[in-house]
Amino acid sequence: MAIEQHLVDELRKRRQIALDLGGKDKIAKRHEKGLMTARDRLDALFTKGSFQEFAMHAAHRATLFGLMGKVLPADGVVTGVGEVDGRPVAAFSQDFTTAGGSLGNMHAEKICESIDYAIKHGMPVISFNDSGGARIQEGIGSLSGYGKVFFKNVEASGVVPQITIIAGPCAGGAAYSPALTDFQIMVNKQATMFICGPEVIKAATGEVVTMEEVGSAAANASVSGNVHFVASDDAHAVALAKKLLSFLPSNNIMDPPHHLGVPLDYTKDTGMDELVPADGKQPIDVQQVIKRLVDDGDFFEVQMDWAKNLVIGFARIQGIVVGIVANQPMFKAGTLDIDASDKGARFIRFCNIFNIPLVTLVDTGGFLPGKAQERGGIIRHGAKMLFAYASTTVPKITVIMRKSYGGAYIAMCSKELGADAVFAWPTAEIAVMGAEGASNILYKGELDKITDPEAKAKRRAELLAEYREKFSNPYQAAGIGSVTDVIEPSETRAVVARALRNTLTKREVRPPKKHGNIPL
Ligand code: HXC
Repeated sequence: MAIEQHLVDELRKRRQIALDLGGKDKIAKRHEKGLMTARDRLDALFTKGSFQEFAMHAAHRATLFGLMGKVLPADGVVTGVGEVDGRPVAAFSQDFTTAGGSLGNMHAEKICESIDYAIKHGMPVISFNDSGGARIQEGIGSLSGYGKVFFKNVEASGVVPQITIIAGPCAGGAAYSPALTDFQIMVNKQATMFICGPEVIKAATGEVVTMEEVGSAAANASVSGNVHFVASDDAHAVALAKKLLSFLPSNNIMDPPHHLGVPLDYTKDTGMDELVPADGKQPIDVQQVIKRLVDDGDFFEVQMDWAKNLVIGFARIQGIVVGIVANQPMFKAGTLDIDASDKGARFIRFCNIFNIPLVTLVDTGGFLPGKAQERGGIIRHGAKMLFAYASTTVPKITVIMRKSYGGAYIAMCSKELGADAVFAWPTAEIAVMGAEGASNILYKGELDKITDPEAKAKRRAELLAEYREKFSNPYQAAGIGSVTDVIEPSETRAVVARALRNTLTKREVRPPKKHGNIPL
């Protein structure tokens, strides 16, 4: 007794059609160019043998769309579930060798099925986008397909992490699916993403622009902030996605993968003290502070090329996964501007969804002054930071290193916005405004009366010192409970780790509502 051979042959033949994608020639051409195929990418992502494909034998609705006789293997998208570092992950990968990876109705339904699977079983979704966009022959069927994919992206948002790898063209409305996901990784040189490319812009407005300016990985990562990571090639993109996953839970009801087995280490790190320049005007490089604060100096920075005045990213602190939000005084004096506020607020909200505690490092002169900022809506954008911090219920630990003035003091996760603990270094300057500005207002009357320039300068210096002592120090804040404790920089890692362990069981319930109305 054995299965009839012709049945096995038929299965193998059908399987081979799907495995060969758009044909062996097209695959060979891609390989010659150093490009991966849709299947190569999934092979790179998943543990060998773990991939279960969905709907490999799917066929486009040929008769409906006048494509009779044309076979589109797997309808141009490979979908399924596999294992990444021991955890199940759903994925879809567009196949450029089949009708340019264009999206028709069945193609869209397969994508939706993989997202649905992820929602239902609580696992991340990773996608590889490589497509000529809406499949022209399917007309409204393609547009309808895109609409369904966008709907699914939104339904999955906040339930499971969604990571998009933009590996080839991603043009027009198609770019909105990646934009609706949590993180976008774009492959340098081989990928492009734009709503209107150079030709359309020229035809519509007469403006001459290059693809590099509007659609490249560099433009998307460093100018518009659409993209979170730039990869050097497909393999690097997969490595970045895996690294990102290593910090994330599989869904919104799980905790992130903390490593809690190790007992706390309270050793002081004197190297942190050395990072603080004696001259208060010399900026601290917050990247160095983060390196010392996190386990093995392993900080996975997000959006490193955009709004560099605010640094965000993932790490572990004595085993606990955290999202770090830090002012970077090396850029724009660490001020909060429109882009930094957008960058920070979205990251804070992501961490909240996936139960990732937040560690905020503060050294900022405030919101960036300027006409462009005011007219660009810094009030609306800056409010996102306040809204994001105030509405998050994950553990929130704040360290005020130096400057923390005015509205930015509140915005950078103050006690008042719900921080569970706020620690300040002795160098912290917490005040309504900086000493120079404040003394011009407070002591103007007295100084105006002094005519001798030398005597005036001397008195001014005395008043500045007096201001700092009285109104711009961590002890005034600690005195009213806005600062939990004043600590030496060398104690930071141990104190933050302890605070994180003490707050991991946090439960905070807010009044029920559909959702808040964050300023957008
Ligand atoms: C059907 C398509 C296609 C499409 C490409 N192909 N795009 N088929 N619908 N949208 C097919 C080509 O006919 C060709 O088939 C194969 O894919 C490879 O395409 P080439 O042009 O030969 O490849 P290349 O030179 O690398 O150029 C890639 C490209 C170009 C830049 C993506 O194909 C292109 O510009 N395509 C159209 C892009 C576009 O305008 N799409 C609509 C965007 S609007 P053969 O059989 O020869 O191999 C949109 C709306 C979405 O997507 C709205 C959502 C709300």
